[in-house]
Amino acid sequence: RTISGQSVAVDKAGHRHFMLKEIYEQPTVLSDCLRHYSDGTAVTIREGELDFAQTDRLILVACGTAHYACLVAKYWFEQLAGLPCDVDIASEFRYREPPVSDRATALFVSQSGETADTLAALRYARDKAARIVSVVNVPESSIARDSDLALPILAGVEVGVASTKAFMNQLGALAHLAILAARQRGRIDSAREAELLGTLRSLPGLINQALALEPQIEAQTRRLAEAQSVLFLGRGAMFPMALEGALKLKEISYIHAEGYASGELKHGPIALVDKSVPVVVLAPRDGLFDKTVSNMQEVMAREGRVWLVTDAEGGRLAGDGVWHRLVMPTVDPVFAPMLYAVPAQLIAYHTALHKGTDVDQPRNLAKSVTVE
Ligand code: AGP
Repeated sequence: RTISGQSVAVDKAGHRHFMLKEIYEQPTVLSDCLRHYSDGTAVTIREGELDFAQTDRLILVACGTAHYACLVAKYWFEQLAGLPCDVDIASEFRYREPPVSDRATALFVSQSGETADTLAALRYARDKAARIVSVVNVPESSIARDSDLALPILAGVEVGVASTKAFMNQLGALAHLAILAARQRGRIDSAREAELLGTLRSLPGLINQALALEPQIEAQTRRLAEAQSVLFLGRGAMFPMALEGALKLKEISYIHAEGYASGELKHGPIALVDKSVPVVVLAPRDGLFDKTVSNMQEVMAREGRVWLVTDAEGGRLAGDGVWHRLVMPTVDPVFAPMLYAVPAQLIAYHTALHKGTDVDQPRNLAKSVTVE
């Protein structure tokens, strides 16, 4: 295959699809990303390269799955670093003509580094923001070349049109930037920095444990494949994961799906719920879990079928009545979105298998959208 001018030998390594191979590569490529950005106790991005202490606002811009990675990162930059953070869809950003302060840092996330909407948004911001930073999987791409600083995600060549390992490593890189920002803005000490990095270091092992749940997921997706529409719910940083889970399902199984903030259900979407609409709830046991349990009860009271993806504690608290329950390994809720990407990817993958669609080359889609 020729990817961005490079001829690279890629095979499926014995997997049925490139997408599944890339889902299984996540522990390895995430480990590569983590080693690149920290020595295990401190983030190792050189101070001169990035100084979030001088930044008054961070603007994150991307498309599709990369946009959802930015939405997750917003929680990290705001909660860990206290840094105001705007997230924009690239195709909307420049036509809105947003004011960009000359103390802002604009950060563009793109697997291919060639997405026309994202490149155009970067060029809009180039002579306005103080710094143009990109987080890319192709270091010699157009977006990387036009940035003041291009940060690699080290996911390796991603062939599947539905992005999986690149999404994981985008989150890995963004998590380190948020931790660096928190240190530079005096919000965390070195002990807390080491603790956060320790949690990140535990993720590849936890991802392997989550991958071991694949047979359960495969069996449970059989019924999902019959649905006409699926809802994904999440709260806090799991809300963007609900959006990502819905996108994965849509783009490879062609089943309509929507991601919603759990608390938003009663403001309209609950009208959609009946026994024909599966509702996938992505909810580790965190401070918001009790609210999510009441959202699930609202769904089940209307014969909605809830597939709860949670951890052991959440499974105990959720009680009976859920249609399906997938018990994930327990992780610090801060970085739970990275771990919960795995069931979201496998739910989409196995549903698509049941549907018989072309998983690696879904209809109407291109791996890199180089036109507006
Ligand atoms: C993700 O699964 C999709 N293939 C698509 O949304 C993709 O994330 C989007 O087109 C952005 O691509 P990029 O990361 O190469 O800029």
